[in-house]
Amino acid sequence: MKCGGMSLALLSVPQMARHRQVTMAKPVLDPNSLTPFVDPLPILKVARPTEFRPTPGDAKQKAPYYRMAIRQVESKIHRDMKPTLQWAVDSSVPGATLETQSGQGMFVEWANELPKSHFLPIDHSLHGAEAEKPDVRTVIHMHGARVPAAADGYPEDWYVPGKSATYFYPNMQDAAMLWYHDHTLGINRLNVYAGLLGLCIVRDSFESGLSLPSGKYEIPLVLYDRFFDQDSQLYYPVSSVPGKPWIPELFGNAILANGKLLPYLEVDPRKYRFRVLNGANGRFFHLSMSSGQTFQQIGTDQGLLAAPVTLKICSVAPGERGDLIVDFSDHAGEQIVLKNDMLLPVMQFRVVKGKVNDDCTVPSTLRPVPKIAESEAVKTRPLMLGEISDLHGDSVTMLLNNAHWSMPITENPTLDSVEIWELINVTDDAHPIHLHMVKFQILDRRRFDAFAYQNENSLLRYRGNPVPPEPSEAGWKDTVRADPGMITRIIVKFEGYVGRYVWHCHILEHEDNEMMRPYDVVAKS
Ligand code: C2O
Ligand code: CU
Ligand code: CU
Repeated sequence: MKCGGMSLALLSVPQMARHRQVTMAKPVLDPNSLTPFVDPLPILKVARPTEFRPTPGDAKQKAPYYRMAIRQVESKIHRDMKPTLQWAVDSSVPGATLETQSGQGMFVEWANELPKSHFLPIDHSLHGAEAEKPDVRTVIHMHGARVPAAADGYPEDWYVPGKSATYFYPNMQDAAMLWYHDHTLGINRLNVYAGLLGLCIVRDSFESGLSLPSGKYEIPLVLYDRFFDQDSQLYYPVSSVPGKPWIPELFGNAILANGKLLPYLEVDPRKYRFRVLNGANGRFFHLSMSSGQTFQQIGTDQGLLAAPVTLKICSVAPGERGDLIVDFSDHAGEQIVLKNDMLLPVMQFRVVKGKVNDDCTVPSTLRPVPKIAESEAVKTRPLMLGEISDLHGDSVTMLLNNAHWSMPITENPTLDSVEIWELINVTDDAHPIHLHMVKFQILDRRRFDAFAYQNENSLLRYRGNPVPPEPSEAGWKDTVRADPGMITRIIVKFEGYVGRYVWHCHILEHEDNEMMRPYDVVAKS
């Protein structure tokens, strides 16, 4: 959206926000200076329960108990780098993967065993990160989980080293790849950047009944970007404003796959299932293969699509997942690079020579995704995604519906009711919007006049026709790309639990600013 040079306080002025320059306080490592594809892609380890405990509400049922220690570790990102200091869940970055069956509950004790000081630049002017708050604190949220509010990892429920929180996850939901990450108010972007993220795979008999690639042919792939300094240490850039290090976005020059920089994976000439998570703070991935081959996307955030979608490029915004089937059978003996935008390499596949037997198939229909009818919605909420900047561009506030985190609840859907949320993006950025606890469907996106909307009393003037979601987004979602200058409509059934949750932009720099709001699911009267 271009709105001219006026500087009314309420205008969307990302141009001014961008005046707040990102400064590189030290020279960063250039990944191009390293030999690519010398480290094997790490296969993420699966967490093991330490014991079994009686399930809440049904003491005869036993549920596995996992103890996930959150600690500082040192590990190698690339053969030719020195060990990098990171924060890890269960000793690796990404953390160990939790695996469970739909309906099989689990306990997870998230134990904060971090050191007393933070190694990334905290901005004490951000809400929730005031100087009197301890620097080191964490709370872990399971993204995509339908879980009672007390176990959701509320951003204010953080705790300090030496403490832990034990959450029970009922896992009453369909097969999907969820992920866990830090959610601490005001420093979430730093804690995730430091390494506090990992996967949770929920399986069910429906999905296992399809003959999709499994076992060693099913490979989770966690992608994110980082900067490293010349000593191989994580580097988080800061703003040019003294005392306010927060930056509006971070796009690191090093893209990591399962925690390694430019790794390789030896594959058989057959089908593989890659379960991709965009775990980046702010980078959107658009993935393609150097061979030019197509692949199939079979699932999105909350599980399988109704039917596979054939693609050359898979797009995932921060927080989103893409479930991909890649067939290497026509590529025996080749070396294929997985690339992101601008053809930047992410990793390499080395396809073994010869022929193998591959019984796996991708059915032409996967799992029905019954459409929620718009007529079921009892409420439509217009929700503006906006940004306020002062005249110097020194302070930027990113807001949902002009409300700060600490303001009274405005979104309060009734349990089991259906609502339409209209995400009205008046900024120049795409914001991946995530709602906790629920899954939803995308209705459409429609161009509108953002200037008129902001300056003529929420005047809604459309500039185009509604565009349906892309086929790869036409399944159950928990995160949706709200494009600039567009109104993105989602339809949500608030199924699950009553209580306080949050919704927010999944660009972590935005979320740590003010682009997050609590919301309440309230009981039916
Ligand atoms: Cu991925 Cu509120 O989180
Ligand atoms: Cu979440
Ligand atoms: Cu955002």
